[in-house]
Order: sequence, then structure tokens, then C-alpha cells
Amino acid sequence: MAKEYKRYLVTSALPYANGPVHIGHLAGVYIPSDIYTRYLRLKGRDVISVCGSDEHGVPITIKARKEGVAPQQIVDRYHELIKRSFERLGMSFDIYSRTSSPTHAKTASDFFRKLYDEGKFIEKSSEQYYDEQAQTFLADRYIVGTCPKCGNERAYGDQCEKCGSTLSPDELIDPHSAVSGSKPVKRETKHWYLPLDRYEEFLRKWILDGHKEWKSNVYGQCKSWLDGGLQPRAVSRDLDWGIPVPVEGAEGKVLYVWFDAPIGYISATKDLTPEWEKYWKSEDTKLVHFIGKDNIVFHCIVFPSMLEAHEGYILPENVPANEFLNLEGDKISTSRNWAVWLHEYLDEFPGKEDVLRYVLCANAPETKDNDFTWKDFQARNNNELVAVLGNFVNRALVLTKKYYDGVVPACGELTDYDRQTVAELSQIKGALEHCIESYRFREALKEAMNFARIGNKYLADTEPWKLIKTDPARVATILHIALQITADTAIAIEPFMPFSAAKILGMLGAERFDWERLGAMDLVPAGHRIGEPSLLFEKIEDDAIRRQLDKLAATKAENAAAEKSKDIESQKDNVTFDEFQKMDIRVGTVLAAEKVAKTKKLLKLTVDTGIDTREIVSGIAEHFTPEQLIGRQVLVLVNLEPRELRGIVSRGMILMAEDASGKLRLLQPDEAVNNGSLVG
Ligand code: 2FM
Ligand code: ZN
Repeated sequence: MAKEYKRYLVTSALPYANGPVHIGHLAGVYIPSDIYTRYLRLKGRDVISVCGSDEHGVPITIKARKEGVAPQQIVDRYHELIKRSFERLGMSFDIYSRTSSPTHAKTASDFFRKLYDEGKFIEKSSEQYYDEQAQTFLADRYIVGTCPKCGNERAYGDQCEKCGSTLSPDELIDPHSAVSGSKPVKRETKHWYLPLDRYEEFLRKWILDGHKEWKSNVYGQCKSWLDGGLQPRAVSRDLDWGIPVPVEGAEGKVLYVWFDAPIGYISATKDLTPEWEKYWKSEDTKLVHFIGKDNIVFHCIVFPSMLEAHEGYILPENVPANEFLNLEGDKISTSRNWAVWLHEYLDEFPGKEDVLRYVLCANAPETKDNDFTWKDFQARNNNELVAVLGNFVNRALVLTKKYYDGVVPACGELTDYDRQTVAELSQIKGALEHCIESYRFREALKEAMNFARIGNKYLADTEPWKLIKTDPARVATILHIALQITADTAIAIEPFMPFSAAKILGMLGAERFDWERLGAMDLVPAGHRIGEPSLLFEKIEDDAIRRQLDKLAATKAENAAAEKSKDIESQKDNVTFDEFQKMDIRVGTVLAAEKVAKTKKLLKLTVDTGIDTREIVSGIAEHFTPEQLIGRQVLVLVNLEPRELRGIVSRGMILMAEDASGKLRLLQPDEAVNNGSLVG
């Protein structure tokens, strides 16, 4: 039998405060955690939900350096933006904290110090890459070079994104710093390591034997980490941004961001309640971590080992990690701006918070990566929220207003069909609860929507608008039942769509119901006066979707241009002014052009250089036909050493521009000038 817990502690991965939150984060972590928490609250459970910004780590320092501001400025900006966006979306964290808070610094520092004092770390010196120009050690990600496997010149020190190989910085050919571009050197540095190998047995027992019920993606990843054998992991870094390592001789070193961030859950709880220990140190608490799949190792292997080493803390009972959400068929990427940013969505779709919550839950990447498309967003809004949920609620309320002046009619005798409907409704609650409690939120949402689906069908089948003239007593019963289903719908959808649930209750003129009342048929009594009906959802038109698709298309074009510009050849060595002056470049006109026999690339041009008429052989036959050149003015390097090509003496060179793809363009004066005019 499943253990009964006295209280729940729900954590949601702390988002990095180096950028805004996007739909991938929401679908993977925050929407599921909010549904779970709201459900537990509705059930009257003792639950707290904690989250906050993850404000340390190298990417924040890099971003600050790029913008020429202090890291604190970056995290202040994004912390505020993320916090506010979450609030606007209706995320109901009990606290949204930050890892730059004093409570956190002390908590993380004390945590480290206890493990240090108890000899739980290994101290080790090793050689690491150092950027002398930027005066900083370089994380693997910030060393760039040529991939030894595929030749990609922009491979990272930990991975080549072109061929997917895992790399170490030592394998890169011609490594250089992504921070300053300079060639890094090796420097010896000392760090503290958590010997994860010592926790292997504990982890095997706890996860592999004890938590076979975890989602298969989570369990599978843990198993493969454990089967591969664990290595000691460094828990400190050479960096000037973070929580200082609290031991002597550790100047310039801070706690590794993945050491301090999960402790952020504890410090957030401390900031929330003086009773924090009740949540973290009692076996009666059920701890659940909501995360994305890239965080599995940290929450299932590293953090539990830290907690075990520290002693006294409970371990997570479950870690329902989701897979990734893609956007229009492509991986979401902050650096490529390939995302739907939450704050932008909220600005562009005011009042449609629940639509996003609905679509992201209905499409959540629970068992495999999934795709978000704007067409699907529109279809789910129009065909499900408007046509089913909105339509049902609106019909029930408007008909009550029309036929009974807004007063709930009394229920008469039930027909078999009524009884069948009521019986169907009574099945849903159990199924819905089971889905939520086993972290299957997509299915849970379907169950919640079943109240509206059944209600919609009930009205369509009973057709009260046709009966009102012939059988008003029957209509009273139909609407009485429809209004009960409306109230049930409000309870059922609350964890998923809190704004709409509140709106339905407002229109019913009802107070919030307890979850336990879900499925009841006496929620709004006869004689109760309902409020004013208004539309719950509105259709999303093609225009709005086109605007979003255009925005993404513009991003794609920008990325392609940026990608191209990266291919620009680096600058050649300097020349002196005198050296430049030696080049004699003139404007000339192509008088004649023909292909050089038996060659693919060569054209023989006859050019009037103003000085003379001469022949120049140029390797441009694949780019221009002779006709495209005859009569055109061009720039000619006239004092290039003559050379013989295929028996023709070529005296000079036609200047061209060549882009990264190798395409050639003629260079011309912007207006015709005399041949022989000097260029320089
Ligand atoms: O992957 C991330 O976005 C991390 N900032 C998550 C940290 S979760 C926790 F450990 F704080
Ligand atoms: Zn490669």
C-alpha cells in the first residue's frame, strides 16, 4: 500500500537568471509542478511549493562580460522578469526566491563546511585551461576549437554539436578561449571533489531497488549512470561570481553552481517558513522534484549523494522529469532565439494565460520529446477550449438566464439518460486523481475536460431550446443538471486553468468548492441566483497565428545571416601604406570575352584599361557567361606579374568579391568613369 504522507514539499527546477523563461521550461517543469501543487492544495493537503532563480554559474558571468555590466545586474534583470512572468501565468509558488540571497549564501556555505569538516570531500590539484587575457579559468564549454572527429571548427571543449561527439578540451585541435579568443594555457589549480563512487551502493539500493515506479526515462538514466560507474565530481570552481568556498586557502574559488543550486530549495524553504525543518527533515514529508531531463543526474545522483553525506535530510520520493519540447520542428534554443518567450506571449495574448497552460499540458513531453506548433495551439484553442469547454459553460449559463432569469431551476424527476450521465461523471474523479498522483498530467487534463465534454453532449442530446415550449418542467431538470456539471467543471479544471475556473465560479455566483465535492450533483442549489455570463474563451484567428509564424521566420533568417557572417575569413597580416601604394588598380571596360577552350573555369577577357588594351585570363567561367561581362566596367589590378595560362599571357587581375559560399560578384564604380581611373 502506498505510504500516507502528512505533508508535501514540491520543488521546481530553479531557472537560470541569464535569460527569460520559454515554453520549453513551462511544459517540462513549471506547468506540471503547478498542477500538482494546486491539486494538493484543493485537496486540503499541507503542501508548499518552492522555486527561485539560479543566479550563479559561468554563463551569467559571460553574459555580463559581453554586455559590459556586473553579473549582479544580469541576475537582477532576469530574476524580476522571470518572477513577474510566472506570476502573470498564475504559477502559485509559495515562494520564488533567488540564490543570491543571504539565507542561501549561508545555507550553502554551511552545507559545504559540514561536509568539509567531516572529511567527505577529496582535495585534488589538476591542470586546467586558463585564459591569460581575460584572467579566468575556462569551463570546458568556453574552449572552442576544431573537432578531431569531423573537422568542425567551432566544436566546444565538452561536445561537438555538429557530429554529436563528447569531447574533452584536450582533444580539440587549435583550442582557443571563447571569452577572449586568445590561446589558453594550462595552469595548476586545486579543487574539492565529492567522491560519488562512495555513494554508488546507496544510490543503487535507493533508486534501482527502491524506486522502480519512477518514470522510465528517469529510472533508465539513473541506471545507465550507475552502471557506467560514478566518478568524483568537483564541487568548486575558479570564478569570481558565486558563493566563496568557506575554507582557508580557497581565495578566488566559489562553490560549483550545481552544488549550490539544489541547496537553493532548502534556503527558499527557510525564507518561507521558520518550520522549514518539518518539510526537509521528517520522513512524513513527501519531497517531489519537478525538472527537465537535462537535470536528472543532478537531482537523482548528485544532490541525493550530498544530502546523504550531510545526513538528516529526506530524499525525493519522486523526480518526475519531462523530456524536451521542440518548437515548430526545431530544438528550442536561447542562443538562437528559437523559442516562444513567456513574457512576450503574455504581452501578445493578454487574457489567454489559460490557453497556454492548456496547450502546454495537453502537449507536454511526458514520455518523449514533443513539438509545439502555432497551428496546434490555434486548433486546440478553437476546437477544444472554445468549442467544448467555453461552449458548454456558456450554453448552460445563458439558457438559465434566458428561461429562468438567472435563478437555478429545481430538479425534477430524472430520466434514464440523466442517470446514465450522472453515473459517467462520477467515474471521472477517481481517474483524474489517479493520473495526477502518478504525474500523468496530459491524461489528467483529458479527464478534467471530460466534465465539459459530457456536459456539452448532454445539452446537445437533450436540446432544451427545443423543449422549452412543450415541456418546461423537463427543461428545468436539464438546466439544473447542466449547472451542476458546470460547477464540477470549475473544480476539475482549477489545477490546470485557474483563471477560467475562477471565472466560471464568478459567473455561477458560487464560492470555491472543496475538491472532495467534485462529481457532486448538488453544488448550486435551486433558487440560487447566478452571475452574468460572458465568454470564457474566444477564437484565435489566422492572423494572430501568422504573426507568430512570421516572427519565427524572421528569427530563422537572422540566424542564417549570423551563421554566414561567422564564416568570414579572419583579417590578414597588416601591410604598410607603401606596400599598398605599390598596387596599381584601375577602372577598365571588358571589350570582349570568350571561354578558353578545353577548360571549365577560364575566361579570356579583352580589357580596355585606359593604359592599353590587354588580355586577362580569369577563373570565373562558372560564375559569369561572356555576355554578362562584355561592356561592363570592372576594377583591374594592372601591375600583377604577367603569367601564361593555357598559352595565353594574362596581364592583370579582375577584382571580385567572394562570399562565404564562394559566390563571386563584380566590383564596379557606382557611376561610369573614364577607363584608367585610379582606384585606391
Ligand atoms: O537547468 C537549469 O536551468 C538549472 N538552473 C536548474 C537548477 S535546478 C536546482 F538544482 F536548482
Ligand atoms: Zn565533430
